[in-house]
Amino acid sequence: MGDNHNLSDYEAASEEFSWDDIFAEADWEAPGDLNIAHEVCDRHAADKDRVALYQVSEDGDLTTVPFWQLAEESNQFANLLESMGVERGDRVFSYMPRIPEHYVAMVGTLKRGAVWGSVNERFGPEGIAYRLADCDTSVVLTTTDNRETVAEALEDVPSVEQVITVDRGDGVPDGDIAFGDRLEGAERNYETADTGGDDNALLYYTSGTTGPAKGVLHEHRWIAGVAATQRYTMDIKPGDCYWSTADLGWLTGPINTLGAWFWGATMFTYEGEFDPAEWAELLDEHPITILFSVPTAYRMLRENESLLDDVSLDLRLAGSVGEPLSPGVVTWGEETLGVTILDTYGQTETGNFIINNYPSMEVRPGSMGKPIPGVEAAIVDPDTGEVVEPGETGQIAERPDFPCFFAEYWEKPEKTASCFVDGPDGEWYLSGDLAYRDEDGYFWFEGRADDVIISSGYRIGPFEVESALGEHEAVAEAAVVPKPDPERTNIVKAYVVPSEGYEPSDSLAEDIKTKVKTDLAAHEYPREVEFREEMPKTVTGKIRRTELQDLAQAEAEAGDD
Ligand code: WT7
Repeated sequence: MGDNHNLSDYEAASEEFSWDDIFAEADWEAPGDLNIAHEVCDRHAADKDRVALYQVSEDGDLTTVPFWQLAEESNQFANLLESMGVERGDRVFSYMPRIPEHYVAMVGTLKRGAVWGSVNERFGPEGIAYRLADCDTSVVLTTTDNRETVAEALEDVPSVEQVITVDRGDGVPDGDIAFGDRLEGAERNYETADTGGDDNALLYYTSGTTGPAKGVLHEHRWIAGVAATQRYTMDIKPGDCYWSTADLGWLTGPINTLGAWFWGATMFTYEGEFDPAEWAELLDEHPITILFSVPTAYRMLRENESLLDDVSLDLRLAGSVGEPLSPGVVTWGEETLGVTILDTYGQTETGNFIINNYPSMEVRPGSMGKPIPGVEAAIVDPDTGEVVEPGETGQIAERPDFPCFFAEYWEKPEKTASCFVDGPDGEWYLSGDLAYRDEDGYFWFEGRADDVIISSGYRIGPFEVESALGEHEAVAEAAVVPKPDPERTNIVKAYVVPSEGYEPSDSLAEDIKTKVKTDLAAHEYPREVEFREEMPKTVTGKIRRTELQDLAQAEAEAGDD
């Protein structure tokens, strides 16, 4: 082990590490002059054979996009934005599948110096509208398949002036900008915006416990942080073919894509949803050397492991993020995939996976590993900011001074300020996650400190789901809590007090579920709805979610569902 990896000795690298070394790998004089798009794309374009992206459509067709083509088409997209009047700093959001156009638009938006954001297609009109309106998005990019959903959302988003639509066979509606036609006519050269490390680049939404989702803002310096993780944790090398199953609608998508492109590696993406048989086939057919996914997907592959029997794997590394990776899955991976799945930990706020396992470091299955070189992390007492003893539970905290650490929650200064605590030797950012550190410095996840629900790797704020439930005429009061689930870690369970005149029934429960699923989001809807006559409340009238959570937990333990 060790010598042939980018990180051969974790301890030594942590001692020697300097962010300047990563900035020095950039083409421009970073961090003063830094544009993500230039660093991840244009500088690899001279090598005509170098592939940026292999994309497999739902029908199984393969599209190959070399870096030179990505550079040219993203130039055209930047020109298009400029001709539409999109200024530096304006927000451009996407709502579309994993098709080549999506990647071109992300890079092109950054070239223009505009701010790129994306909403995953699981969200419905309500979920989309909230996010686009919150940050006054000016342009939305979508496909003809999604156009109706977007139209419904845009009724509540006055800031959006133009929609760019990729024609997937239905014809682009009048008034929209047709992606294909307009790109074709656009100039192939573009002078990339002369941004610096502190200019705004990305805006991704994350759910909160006490209020609506928050926009997490990242600046161009972010790229140095993700480049470090891709180099040290995912061990990216030229020649790798890296399948990150994450969508561009979550920050994990850009982290893996842009971080790997910084080093000139090739990304692989599949347009379709998770399907074990399809995945097994893709792993068989394509020379994928690195796989990055979430524990739920690995668990579902394990459930269907016979599908992997005759698959010829090229994997040399696998990674995971988003929720606890159980030791059993790690062992299974070693036996069946032939690689140790490396658990990594991060948040949209930390911009990246920052407490990780590394191919050259001993893995303790069940542990998230250790902080990447260049990030100081600890377990602290959230009230005092003091570092706690090994073995003691506290909050995961980081010194907020690394490049991919977020700039702010979009226009929510109080929310931003509330994440920090002044400790005896400086400031810590508090993650809201509970963990402990063992004697040897490995971090072990224990749970969330707040009410945020982790389900299938998604972070779900109860507030947003409860608000959506409240929109149903039959719902007088609602509270949602996590209910432990063997495959999804948790499911969202809703307790509902029906409005007057409504009788609890299975069909009413189904109706409520469907409404949340279609209006808000397909991953946030409650998979279980239970009616109650009243909610447990505190003396001040707040719903006691912990009590409901205990009920749901007991129910899960009893296997009573
Ligand atoms: C939350 C963040 C960089 C983007 C990743 C997703 C949970 C994340 C792990 C892990 C246990 C994990 C935490 C965290 N989480 N990784 N390895 N083990 N829990 O970012 O969607 O903002 O979610 O996911 O609770 O706070 P996100």
